[in-house]
Amino acid sequence: MITVRSVAEVRAHVAEARRGGRSVALVPTMGALHAGHDALVRRAHALCDEVVVSLFVNPAQFDDQADLAAYPRTEGADVARLEALGVHALFAPPPDEPYPPGHATRVVVGGLSEVLEGEFRGAAHFAGVCTIVAWLLNAVGPDVAVFGQKDAQQAAVVARMVRDLALPGRLEIVPTVRENDGLALSSRNVRLSPEERARALALPRALEAAADAVAAGERDGARITAAAHAAMAPFDVAPEYLALVDPETFAPVERLNGRALVAVAAHVGPVRLIDNAFLSP
Ligand code: PAJ
Repeated sequence: MITVRSVAEVRAHVAEARRGGRSVALVPTMGALHAGHDALVRRAHALCDEVVVSLFVNPAQFDDQADLAAYPRTEGADVARLEALGVHALFAPPPDEPYPPGHATRVVVGGLSEVLEGEFRGAAHFAGVCTIVAWLLNAVGPDVAVFGQKDAQQAAVVARMVRDLALPGRLEIVPTVRENDGLALSSRNVRLSPEERARALALPRALEAAADAVAAGERDGARITAAAHAAMAPFDVAPEYLALVDPETFAPVERLNGRALVAVAAHVGPVRLIDNAFLSP
């Protein structure tokens, strides 16, 4: 695996792969890699000949400076992990590569970016995500870009941006990887104390309760989310939001007639966690 730091170097690497007739997948990450990221890399290998992983802790998408400061940075371990996964190139730019002095551009996706995560983290969050993902897609020019269902709204916002701006890369979305007890893997989980780690199960238990309600025949959106709320209560975790939404538009779903997404966010100790699951009648 080679590590490249500049747009010029990553473009030269991709051009070389293309000369050999090789298709290229990009997996954008902020590092602190875990088995969730591994699943994205494996999918990238299954779809394309050449796998490029980007590692950049993007300041523009952090609404909380303490969260940015505390975000785990483990490049040495990440490099070893990606080597073992057979990744061809790691693109790990320094901050002034995407954000040179005088940088003044933001990519804003309307509507979809303003609800749930956009409402609670602020409009700057998805603008930060979209600005860096647009930059990465333009820098690398992949055939496929791989994202996780764990960040369902991010995947939907990025899909809209790619379509609206005709950016390179077909999006591929990989199902959420979970611990045995159901907790979704996240780079932030390492910051949970053992007591908080136990309370974090409120999120997957809420999603399971929503699915159980649907399996028992419930179709009313308010009753489905009420079942999820009830499942969280014993953990002493109050959701920031817990919503049943359309998986593409993120508009509220009042009655479950087709596929919907139940999405939840909650603070557990110092960490803000999100999770989601598909529901179908
Ligand atoms: P990061 O949180 O590092 O996540 C990188 C990718 O891994 C995202 O597509 C995310 O959805 C996926 N992922 C994280 N946990 C997962 C899990 N448990 N199962 C499956 N996939 C999982 O998301 C970002 O970075 C950034 O916003 C980024 C897109 C890189 C832009 O800065």
